Amino acid sequence: MIEVVRNAIPQEMCEFISHNMDLHFNLIDYPKDNTLLCSNAVGDYAPIFLESLLVYLQPLIEKTVAKKLYPTFSFGRIYHNGSNLKRHVDIEGRSEYGVSCCIQKDVDWSLYFEKSGKSIPYNLNVGDIIAYKGMEYYHWRESYHGNEHRQVFLNYVDVDGEYANWKYDKRECLGQVKHTNILNLSKTIAGLIQ
Ligand SMILES: [Fe+2]
Repeated sequence: MIEVVRNAIPQEMCEFISHNMDLHFNLIDYPKDNTLLCSNAVGDYAPIFLESLLVYLQPLIEKTVAKKLYPTFSFGRIYHNGSNLKRHVDIEGRSEYGVSCCIQKDVDWSLYFEKSGKSIPYNLNVGDIIAYKGMEYYHWRESYHGNEHRQVFLNYVDVDGEYANWKYDKRECLGQVKHTNILNLSKTIAGLIQ
C-alpha cells in the first residue's frame, strides 16, 4: 500500500508548521538527525506541533488506508544540500503505517519506493502526503541538490492489528519525549539499512 494524497495539508498550515520548525529547532540548537538515515540534516522526535498534526490528519489517514488507527509518533526533519535518505525499511511495529508530508521545498526531490523489483519515484509538492506500509517496501532519496527541504513523518498502527501495543509509541500520551524512544529509534533503524 503506497498512496499519495495531494493537498492533504492546506498551504497556510504548511507555512505555520514551517515557522514552528524554525522556532523549535532554534530552541533545541539544531540537533543533527540521529536516525542514521541521512547526512546534512537536522531532526527531532515528537515536537508538540507535529504530535498535533498526527491527530489532525488521523481521520484522513484512516480513510486512505481503510483502517482504524492509533497514532504512534511524529518526527520532523530539515534536509540540507548534499543530504540523501538511505535505502531502508521502517521499524517493525511503531511505523506500521508511515506518512511522509512535504512541508517546504525548493526543488523537486523524489522519494523512491521499491515495488515488485522496480524503483518508483514519487514527487510531492508542499501540502502533499504519501502514506505507505514502510515495513514492506524499501524507500530512499538520492542526493539533494537544493538548499533546504522540510519533511514531516507521521506514524500509526492498526487498532485491530498485531502492532496495536505501539499506541503512542508506548508513551503515556502524545507529546511526551523519552530519551529511550529516541535511542531505540536510531538503533533499530540502523539495523535495517541496506
Ligand atoms: Fe522510512
